[in-house]
Amino acid sequence: MSVAFIEGGFMSKGKKWVALVLAVALVLAVALTGCASKTDTGTSDTTGNTTKTVTLKTIEPGKLLVGSDTAFPPFESMNGNVAEGFDVDLMKAIGEKLGLEVTFKTEIFDTLIPTLKAGGKFDVIASGMTIKPDRQLEIDFSDPYYDSNQSLVMKKGTTYTGPEQLSGKKVGVQSGTTGEAWAKENVTGATLVPFKNATDAFAALQAGNVDAVVNDLPVSTELLKDDDRGLAIVAQIPTGEQYGFGVSKDNPDLTAAINKALAEIKSDGTYNDIYQKWFGILPE
Ligand code: ARG
Repeated sequence: MSVAFIEGGFMSKGKKWVALVLAVALVLAVALTGCASKTDTGTSDTTGNTTKTVTLKTIEPGKLLVGSDTAFPPFESMNGNVAEGFDVDLMKAIGEKLGLEVTFKTEIFDTLIPTLKAGGKFDVIASGMTIKPDRQLEIDFSDPYYDSNQSLVMKKGTTYTGPEQLSGKKVGVQSGTTGEAWAKENVTGATLVPFKNATDAFAALQAGNVDAVVNDLPVSTELLKDDDRGLAIVAQIPTGEQYGFGVSKDNPDLTAAINKALAEIKSDGTYNDIYQKWFGILPE
């Protein structure tokens, strides 16, 4: 950096001296600020990119505790006492990028947001949760990681003609879900029967305790792969939902770190591998 002095006859010798001192001070200040911001924004990684070093605030140091209703395959389900699924693998891949060990904790879907807000139990929600405005008032969401729609499931062989067909019928939904919200808005004259999870709703449909179930399409598709249930998807409902990971509004650094890691696993192929593993195809 160079500082040019404009020689003019209007400055006295004393004033020139003051100007010189000020100019030197300015140069030093700029140089120091430059240095300081460099250390603040972090170190360079091996590829030469500057990465921001922030210490992530999690409940247990070095760990990322994840709240999830683990009865929602292929996103999350229990294999013995181990959680598995698309969300589980994504969170693990994200945890790896962040240097945090991921542990899933099973919670009723309905209680995930209040529990996250209350704090102390888990750091993130990964539960096939749709990003929607009323939820965004309560918690923050990561960038979307999966596009979804709703489905209507009934006994195999049923011809479905439209929501009016459900009038006077019992419609099973999972409490607190977008499927429940869709049914409340679009199905008139039916009795909505809330269940704590999707698998219970399907069991009730099989047993004849409800006449239909509204549930996220990819999960209905997965649960109905087992043909013995005698159930079928009679309608796809294009709600155009997107799933995101939920984080407390008090932890914006964690949301930013998750977004960065998500972008990385999308560009390095990890996301596609995980997608193919759970859906058998590559994302569109
Ligand atoms: N996507 C729907 C919602 O956000 C249903 C999610 C249910 N997830 C679960 N793991 N049970 O309301």
